[in-house]
Amino acid sequence: MNRPAWLRDAVFYEIYPSSFADSNGDGIGDINGIRQKLPYVKDLGCNALWLNPCFDSPFKDGGYDVRDYKLAAPRYGTNEDLYALFKEAHALGIRVLLDLVPGHTSEEHPWFIESGKPEKNEYSDRYVWTDFWIKGTPGHPYIAGETPRNGAYMLNFFKCQPALNYGWAKVTEDWQTPVTGKAARATRNAMADVMRFWLAHGCDGFRVDMANSLVKGDDDDKSYTCALWKGLLNEMRAEFPEAAFVAEWGWPEQALCLADFDMDFYLDHWDNGYHKLVRSDDAYLKGNDPAAFVKDYLKRYEASKEDGYISFITGNHDTPRISWYLTDDQLKLAYALLLTLPGVPFLYYGDEIGMRYLDYLPTKEGGYTRTGSRTPMQWAPEKNLGFSDADPGRLYLPVDPAPDAPTAAAQESDPGSLLNTVKAVLALRHRCPDLQADGSFQVLHAQAGDPLLIFRRGALTVALNPSNKPVKADVPGTPLFQIGSCEKGSLGPNSFIVS
Ligand code: GLC
Ligand code: CA
Repeated sequence: MNRPAWLRDAVFYEIYPSSFADSNGDGIGDINGIRQKLPYVKDLGCNALWLNPCFDSPFKDGGYDVRDYKLAAPRYGTNEDLYALFKEAHALGIRVLLDLVPGHTSEEHPWFIESGKPEKNEYSDRYVWTDFWIKGTPGHPYIAGETPRNGAYMLNFFKCQPALNYGWAKVTEDWQTPVTGKAARATRNAMADVMRFWLAHGCDGFRVDMANSLVKGDDDDKSYTCALWKGLLNEMRAEFPEAAFVAEWGWPEQALCLADFDMDFYLDHWDNGYHKLVRSDDAYLKGNDPAAFVKDYLKRYEASKEDGYISFITGNHDTPRISWYLTDDQLKLAYALLLTLPGVPFLYYGDEIGMRYLDYLPTKEGGYTRTGSRTPMQWAPEKNLGFSDADPGRLYLPVDPAPDAPTAAAQESDPGSLLNTVKAVLALRHRCPDLQADGSFQVLHAQAGDPLLIFRRGALTVALNPSNKPVKADVPGTPLFQIGSCEKGSLGPNSFIVS
């Protein structure tokens, strides 16, 4: 597979910058805080980072409303701090992906302010506008009455996020511009310029937000959006051959095979395999059978395995934390499985210690029900759980107030902790190329009504039983690694074995 070689053994750690580590005591996490914690990330066994947007923004959607693509958000630090982070991470063998938001900007972005002016200018067509103040875009949300321009603009997400214009697959109205037109080209080139800027300063690639959202109109099969990405990514690769790109798409048959991304997240979508693995009531990791997960995943894996990597996630900043769905024992098995399947896995900060989803928190910066998954990292049983020196009332979000809130320090000294389980699985993965991204994958046992899953990775066999009853299982070979009790001919409750 023609993907950057470093991805084969890559394990990503996703950091929500506001909540990871506050280096200057203002209550908000920052870039220098992340720099200080790089040894923790390395010790955990992760060798790549994805940072949620850390650019200048009014933060009406957690930074996914970018006001300046080339400027670090002052609350997080400076561009120099970011460049230093890239350097220090590289010295430790850690790559860094930034979050690219190509589909929309903040309504405060200078391009948008220019675009909303009545006089025609360079940015008039940078966004999707209709040609009359009270006329919307059929089938899409739009906003009227906010700017002096005689038109309404299309939204890509919240009201504060006007859609950038990459053209329309089929032009049916005078005000729509074609995918092949000048305006679409200019937007695309502006995004290429942003990517080049950060790659030239040492970042290792991008996680691409809503990557499938670019071309408007009749692009249901996404062929226009895919073609656009393929061209853009390959333009970047010509200059930065080591750069890696992961799509927020959730459809590897498109994102990997057609759009040419290196990785695509297996997101918690509808009724897909990931949902059936972790989140649905009948999820496999809750002790049910793996049939629905395996069916959906295998189809996608087989269709895309020559083209790129499906990225399993423990969770992310958009969904309730995985610990909301699973018990502590189930979490160990979940990570063991997610980290030994093919592709490039992503661990969401704090999931390694089982941080909880604080479902009662009021919304913060456009987080809504996502806010409870964005609370400060829990480092140690001390003030603010080691996140910040600020008065607790000044924290970006409160830390988990539970008396038994997990912390990294407490778990480090407990050999049976979740944290040490994650470390052990990651160490195993780094030792065994068969368990890494490219190792072959073959399901040996997955049946309706049976919680036993056995699969092969290269020369290794992986078996697990996430139910609370023992199951009969013939696992060949000598165990290399195990969780729970596994005896010849049977796997105990909540057990996992690699042999
Ligand atoms: C993506 C992000 C999410 C954001 C949205 C709009 O889904 O992960 O956090 O709100 O896009 O940019
Ligand atoms: Ca700070």
